[in-house]
Amino acid sequence: MATALKKVEKKDFVTEHWHQSGEVIQKWGEVTKSLPHRLDAKVRSEMCKKLNQLLANSIVLRDMYKKHHWQVAGPTFYPLHLLLDKHFEEQVEMVDTIAERIQLLGGVSIAMGGDVAELTKIQLPPKGREEVPVQISRLLEAHKIIMQDCHDIAEAADDAGDDGTNDMEDSDILRPNELQSWFIVNHLVEMPLIDAE
Ligand SMILES: [Fe+2]
Repeated sequence: MATALKKVEKKDFVTEHWHQSGEVIQKWGEVTKSLPHRLDAKVRSEMCKKLNQLLANSIVLRDMYKKHHWQVAGPTFYPLHLLLDKHFEEQVEMVDTIAERIQLLGGVSIAMGGDVAELTKIQLPPKGREEVPVQISRLLEAHKIIMQDCHDIAEAADDAGDDGTNDMEDSDILRPNELQSWFIVNHLVEMPLIDAE
């Protein structure tokens, strides 16, 4: 027993495996050749390309929600601070759903910020802080782009017979984005606070 313990102490299980590197085992943009479901590689490749565009846009919207959650100010600070974080959490779920759909189709999901910034169609906000109407406008523009992506993907998935992507995009991405944009757009409606017009 004493001998066995001594052996464990001597062996450094952690550091001896550090500093490894290797070749990329699947390039971004490539799909695996064969999978158990019936969609062929060409269809899966086209779907993954569209889904990666949606993913990049959704990652930017997700991060913009957190940015504005932190930086929002003014008389609507409290409700907006909470709402923006709720939408951020929901976008986290959506991003994960899209990314895993890409992997399931045999593709590679875009993931890192720099790569996402190159791919997204959404105009990136400045590092600095902006006024509430500008923050809201940016969110709405991003939702608009994402909902258009959803319609394009639904059409392509329908044509290709990719029922799973079609269903996911409708139920898990489009409808939550429609709902979020409804909550957001109402912050830009002029309404009297005290006296009715
Ligand atoms: Fe927070």
